[in-house]
Amino acid sequence: MHLFETKNRYFDELFNNPKLMWLGQNTNHFPTHPAVVEAMTDSIRREEYHAYAPPAGIEELRQLIQQDLGLPDASVLVTDGGVEGLYNACRNLSEPGVDFVTTDPGWKWPMAFAKASGARIVEIPIYKPENGYRLTAAQLQAAVSEKTRIIYLVDPNNPLGVCYTADEIEAFAGIARSVGSFFIHDCTYFHFADRHTLAARFYPEKTITVYSFSKWLGLAGLRIGAIVANPDLIEQLAAAPPNNLGCNVISQRAAIAGLKVKHEWLPDINRRQRRNQAEIVNAVRGIPGMAVAVYPSQANFLVVECIDAGVTPEALVAAYQTQDIMIRQGAYHTPTFGHRFVKVSTTVPEAWVDAFCERLPAMVAKARGIRDVPPLF
Ligand SMILES: Cc1ncc(COP(=O)(O)O)c(C=O)c1O
Repeated sequence: MHLFETKNRYFDELFNNPKLMWLGQNTNHFPTHPAVVEAMTDSIRREEYHAYAPPAGIEELRQLIQQDLGLPDASVLVTDGGVEGLYNACRNLSEPGVDFVTTDPGWKWPMAFAKASGARIVEIPIYKPENGYRLTAAQLQAAVSEKTRIIYLVDPNNPLGVCYTADEIEAFAGIARSVGSFFIHDCTYFHFADRHTLAARFYPEKTITVYSFSKWLGLAGLRIGAIVANPDLIEQLAAAPPNNLGCNVISQRAAIAGLKVKHEWLPDINRRQRRNQAEIVNAVRGIPGMAVAVYPSQANFLVVECIDAGVTPEALVAAYQTQDIMIRQGAYHTPTFGHRFVKVSTTVPEAWVDAFCERLPAMVAKARGIRDVPPLF
């Protein structure tokens, strides 16, 4: 069977399991705010989906995203999830002979997009406790050259959960400017951070900010996000985008409603997911050799190191799968460091995290006995 078929069946089985506890994809499974549900049902009732939405997004949504980011001079292109914006930018701005610079670990898909357009991929290792699992300006400086076309930074980082300070972001943006590179600032998880600084503040000319509704608002399956940059750059990216017919209108109505209730929704979501982080840290402390790499995580997940506990991430994932719990093997993020850890998501009902924690000792024991794990994705 082709790999894509195997992969699809893998996710189809997970998706169609109504008992599944989703602790593997950083999605948000807290119950939806009633105003968001109402906006979607209202849109369906009015059957407004017969029409295409405006190509760059419903104006109200574009304005709300701009306000949420606090970038009044930037232009918003609403996309089918942040990933469509990443695809657009990485494919269109890359070409043979240029470098795409990013961190390892990070999110792998933009690398694949840039590579498909011929860019050389330069990965900077940041899985280093001695650096606090962070990219340093010196590392970035050493990795860039006149050939650097794109610097891609996931901030807060997926999977590590580190978030960069204003000083660090300013330094990174300065390095990008010094070589004339675009700076793609993937802020998919910024709503979970205590503090977050946009690179666009320091380098508005060539920063592309990636925005998502999948994680903070819990709309992953609705596919809605945006890229935000200066109007000239958006003009360039809007010329031949992957989807020129406007994004899903129901999703856009949900996103508009979500941004309007964000002030009452987000604090509680963050309180609950930080509670979940604390519970996982407690459970992990009870297992000799296991450790959480970065705590508190500035995103909605934790990296749990299992290498010194004598279990492979794959075996642990397989063990939890027998309990209808999905967690993610590190190899999804990084071939280099992936054998060290699993990732556990925290924007989920407390009962799911409690189930993960209660079963951890038994799952570690079970994983030690698992030898052959079928392919995981
Ligand atoms: C760093 C990063 N960027 C983008 C995305 C995709 O976001 P969206 O669901 O908005 O396409 C993800 C999803 O996991 C991600 O981790």
